[in-house]
Amino acid sequence: MTSDNYVKIFDTTLRDGEQSPGASMNLEEKLQIAKTLEHLGVDVIEAGFPIASNGDFEAVQAVSRQASDKVVICGLARSGFADIDRAHEALRDAPRARIHTFISTSPIHMKYKLQMEPDDVLDAVYASVEHARNLVEDVEWSCEDGTRTDRDFMCRTVEAAIKAGATTINIPDTVGYTLPEEYVEIITMLMNRVPNIDKATLSTHCHNDLGLAVANSLAGVQAGVRQIECTINGLGERAGNAALEEVVMALKTRQDLMPYSTGVQTEEITKASRLVSTITGFVVQNNKAIVGANAFAHESGIHQDGMLKRSDTYEIMTPESVGLNESKLVMGKHSGRHAFKEKLKELGFELGQNQVEDVFRRFKDLADKKKDVYDEDIVALIDDEVVRGDEPIQFASLGLACGSEEPPQSTLELDVEGERKEVTTTGDGPVDAIFNGIKELIPIRPRLQLYQVHAVTHGTDAQATVTVRLEQEGRTVNGQGSDTDTMVASAKAYIAAVNRLMQKLEKTAPSALSA
Ligand code: KIV
Ligand code: ZN
Repeated sequence: MTSDNYVKIFDTTLRDGEQSPGASMNLEEKLQIAKTLEHLGVDVIEAGFPIASNGDFEAVQAVSRQASDKVVICGLARSGFADIDRAHEALRDAPRARIHTFISTSPIHMKYKLQMEPDDVLDAVYASVEHARNLVEDVEWSCEDGTRTDRDFMCRTVEAAIKAGATTINIPDTVGYTLPEEYVEIITMLMNRVPNIDKATLSTHCHNDLGLAVANSLAGVQAGVRQIECTINGLGERAGNAALEEVVMALKTRQDLMPYSTGVQTEEITKASRLVSTITGFVVQNNKAIVGANAFAHESGIHQDGMLKRSDTYEIMTPESVGLNESKLVMGKHSGRHAFKEKLKELGFELGQNQVEDVFRRFKDLADKKKDVYDEDIVALIDDEVVRGDEPIQFASLGLACGSEEPPQSTLELDVEGERKEVTTTGDGPVDAIFNGIKELIPIRPRLQLYQVHAVTHGTDAQATVTVRLEQEGRTVNGQGSDTDTMVASAKAYIAAVNRLMQKLEKTAPSALSA
């Protein structure tokens, strides 16, 4: 395989992924995800949209400062010079920086969104890329709504962007409208008609509105694209972006038809998927390809029989290849600190000494309540610990009276900015009673948009992971909490979301930008 067959993986979980309603992440969480992405071996991390808010700027800056020279850190910018300068400022400390600038080129976007004439858009393409290229060597240009763009106009804009210094040309399927054959035709046309096309790397950025984001991205690669923009778990605007784990595993599994390589360490995929799911509160559906709980489960007798005889009768890739390993250590209430640390290592977690101690204490509490402690339980404990951090509002205790004979009543204790507070409330059900109690103790008035319970393992003693989505003033956040008691998990999830929402309401600048 030649280096011409290397496909760069451009991860945009921290930018397009964060644009999923409710998927906001704080600085600490973004840094953790960026570290995990670098470990995973992606080539480019799009860390945010620096002009969108101070929080985005700080995140791109912090990710840039943390990054090694193995990965390119990218910041998004519209075509205005203020956007580009802000992205440059945020990327200043990155060992390798890329400015990604974009403008819409489809008739519908130019007329109604930008209210610009095509010739003015063409001028803006040249000017924006030239300006960015005067600041950094590595400049990506995207024609937003590319797949609904007039083909002749697309050729003119791509040629202008390359002439102005763009090193990567990205053709987004912004609205998830294209089909694989059509995407191939667009890429082939650009390769045949744009005279300077060999001076830039072509890139895909496909949304999943018709469920075709991965298929379109792979079609692009087969037509000559050498960068795929994607996100962990397929997070992103509306139906999301192409899922990183799916494009990478498709390329790895079908080398016979797609002889391309990536730098991704596929054994790290499961860990990255779990981290992103926990931080964003987006539970991965059970039947999701590659990272769903059932992706390697075999239920039917015929399949199980085949698997026992030879695993590749029904498995096209091994669970180990995506980092799902058979557990060597079984944990229970007699397991000590040493075995617990070994288990953390086996699961691929690197925690600080204080975090290990905290999670170990919680593991012991859990083992007292639950006979078998599975790997998933430990992951949930760690996730809870990682997410809770040093947040201003912390769960302390919950007492609950409910049943068919009397109205549910909750007595809740919270630590609010270090001060213990207690409240007793009723509600239409136990969850309502608890949430009413929390609302009495907090300074904001959020609206509940989603309440979801997910059993971490099997059995009636399983831990529950609860996801809560809250909204206020157009800001939407998710929070998660886990516990063997579903009501305690519900309280923790609501509190996690409140902490996040308060941070968002304080920190985000009012400008509503979209990409
Ligand atoms: O979907 C899109 O077009 C984008 C661009 C900013 C690349 O996210
Ligand atoms: Zn996008």
